[in-house]
Amino acid sequence: MKTIAIVGLGRWGKNHVRNIRRLQTESFCDKVVICDADKGRLKSIGDINDIPEENRYDDLDKLLKNEKLAGAVLAIPTAIHKDIALKVLEHCDILCEKPLAPTIEECKEISEKAKKLNRIVQVGHLERYNPVVVTLKTFLEKENTEDKVMHITGRRVGPGPSKLDSKELDPNYLGCGHDFMVHDIDVVNGILGKLPKRVTATSCYIEGFPYEVELFAIFEYEGFKGQSTNPILFDCRATWRAYPNLKRRKLIVQTSKDVITLDFILQSIIMEKGLAQHALSNSFSEYLGAYRATEVTNHYLAASKDQEPLYLQDKDFLSCLDSRKKPLVSDVEGTAAVKCIIAAIEAAKTGKAVEIK
Ligand SMILES: NC(=O)c1ccc[n+]([C@@H]2O[C@H](COP(=O)([O-])OP(=O)(O)OC[C@H]3O[C@@H](n4cnc5c(N)ncnc54)[C@H](O)[C@@H]3O)[C@@H](O)[C@H]2O)c1
Repeated sequence: MKTIAIVGLGRWGKNHVRNIRRLQTESFCDKVVICDADKGRLKSIGDINDIPEENRYDDLDKLLKNEKLAGAVLAIPTAIHKDIALKVLEHCDILCEKPLAPTIEECKEISEKAKKLNRIVQVGHLERYNPVVVTLKTFLEKENTEDKVMHITGRRVGPGPSKLDSKELDPNYLGCGHDFMVHDIDVVNGILGKLPKRVTATSCYIEGFPYEVELFAIFEYEGFKGQSTNPILFDCRATWRAYPNLKRRKLIVQTSKDVITLDFILQSIIMEKGLAQHALSNSFSEYLGAYRATEVTNHYLAASKDQEPLYLQDKDFLSCLDSRKKPLVSDVEGTAAVKCIIAAIEAAKTGKAVEIK
């Protein structure tokens, strides 16, 4: 009997319940149990997803005592990731939501315990499973050497966990670096296959809230040897300074021949080649014609529910439980992303470049 628990049924955990329930119907697991300290939430999410009463728990210790788990998804506040992860790892493998933990020390504690007990730790960096990211990575790998990445721009704009008001913001999720930017840094680390060497940054704060509500960072990655692409710069903006319905999640990758724009939400990719012609023209219309891109290719990938990144991520977790293979984003990559974010926050606070080792 392969039993999977979902702990934390808030804004994000409820999406895990939907997907894990679907995966149960597809025979990736046999039983789903859910847990939330909030009884009202436990009831509503349990009812919507047809979870039998006996598989609902408002107390994690009771769940761990009663159920023999194969794996657990942890979608609880970031501030308690470490405590809950250490407790659950005693019983089973885990998929812990991003960021793995607020600090590198806490990430290490989770890793050490997992290693000691031979457990899998996957981290919920779902953008790695986004078909646009998979397509981009495949495209870049296929390209020949003179077309390497030169520059990347990341933009993640949204209202954050709640309204931009110090009374509404919850410090248990830290700032927009840990909450938002961590996604883009993990994607870029994955695309380039390395970590940045250093970062410079700037940030914004609001009165009464201890963490940044906007972070703008420039990460420097070592470029490709013997080419003019050294370093590769990744400039990334993550902000909660937006109205609730303004959401934008984009990545623009410039190679020597292409500009590729990804939209994480719409799952679209626009690939632009260079100019048709670079010559002087006699009229404005001729000039516009000559300066259009030679080729613009639009791909829209969000065609079916099988392309939901969270579904693909959760499916990978359930497969790893059986195969014992390392997940695409394990505690190693999760810790690397936290390390980069902490360096960016420090760079913004000190106004100095911070080396990432
Ligand atoms: N991967 C993504 O794209 C993504 C998106 C949003 C949030 N997240 C992450 O998911 C996690 C949860 O975020 P959220 O927005 O759903 O938070 P939330 O506050 O909406 O939900 C958290 C839930 O955990 C429950 N909880 C807290 N302590 C508990 C305990 N000890 N036992 C049982 N239940 C407990 C709360 O009652 C609440 O229902 C965070 O780590 C966040 O960073 C990831």
